[in-house]
Amino acid sequence: MSSVVESFMTQALTHRKDYLSVLDFDAADFERCLQLAAQLKADRALGRLAPTADALNGRHVALLFDKPSLRTRTTFEIAIRELGGHGRRRCSPTSRSARVNRSPTSPRNLERWVDAVVIRTFSQHVLKEFAASAPRLHVVNALTDEEHPCQAIADFLTLQEHLGHLRGRTIAYVGDGNNVATSLAHAASMLGVHVHIASPEAYQLPHMVVQQATSVARHGARLRLFTDAADAVAGADAVYTDTWTSMGQEREAEVRRRIFAPCQVNDELMSLAKPGARFMHCLPAHRGEEVTSEVFESEASVVFDQAENRLHGQKALLLMLLAPSAGL
Ligand code: CP
Repeated sequence: MSSVVESFMTQALTHRKDYLSVLDFDAADFERCLQLAAQLKADRALGRLAPTADALNGRHVALLFDKPSLRTRTTFEIAIRELGGHGRRRCSPTSRSARVNRSPTSPRNLERWVDAVVIRTFSQHVLKEFAASAPRLHVVNALTDEEHPCQAIADFLTLQEHLGHLRGRTIAYVGDGNNVATSLAHAASMLGVHVHIASPEAYQLPHMVVQQATSVARHGARLRLFTDAADAVAGADAVYTDTWTSMGQEREAEVRRRIFAPCQVNDELMSLAKPGARFMHCLPAHRGEEVTSEVFESEASVVFDQAENRLHGQKALLLMLLAPSAGL
């Protein structure tokens, strides 16, 4: 058994019920999650012989998705299976019973049957209420309008693989100050990574997120907001962007394309970053909008490493939430 997995299985864990936000973890939890994810990635080749292959044996995880998903849904399904658990999927956004916020008694029903629920929905508030009304249920945020904390685990696992160490690095996020930017800022600050976020004036990261990130910042990490993409990217170790129009904002797409045009990540913008800087995107990407095909397909692009690392990061997360009470 690897030392990382062994120490995880024997160490007394701080019990965390939910992962609704990166802020539900402290810095030690988040670093531990990255370390465990890296080990699980290495162990994956062992298949059923992996030390964690039965870690969630007898555990049930429900997936409730009110919005479409490829990466998050697929990687959670595989993660649960590879840890020996059982996944139950309710994904149809049009199905009445699948809407997370339709029935206030859903969480109290679910906690009688399953150990955890992975939820993608609209409002962070609905997610918080859901988690609060089911004290025995572990709830994981698979994306809300406000936060995308599972993406942040994969993002920093990827950066760690490519940059070697994280502390003191600078990541520039260019585009909408949205859910991905929020979770990126939370995690970066905890990990001692400087974050530069460039957004048009009306689309800046919410002030509350800046305050939250500042309050958890370690090792001198600084969060700085910009309106000019070139200023944010100058000297950065990685350049990150996301769609200009998130799910639920489709009616604003035309206006957003116009407003965000100066934020496009193209060769010219990448040339301002540090030599060897990586390009990151949580996907799906809209080539020709937030990123050009040239940058997306370039050697700098680590977008499919990020997508792969969703799996390893979420396996680590499930172990951290569920394995302590699984008697490991
Ligand atoms: N990045 C991300 O969350 O992808 P999906 O929307 O496909 O899950």
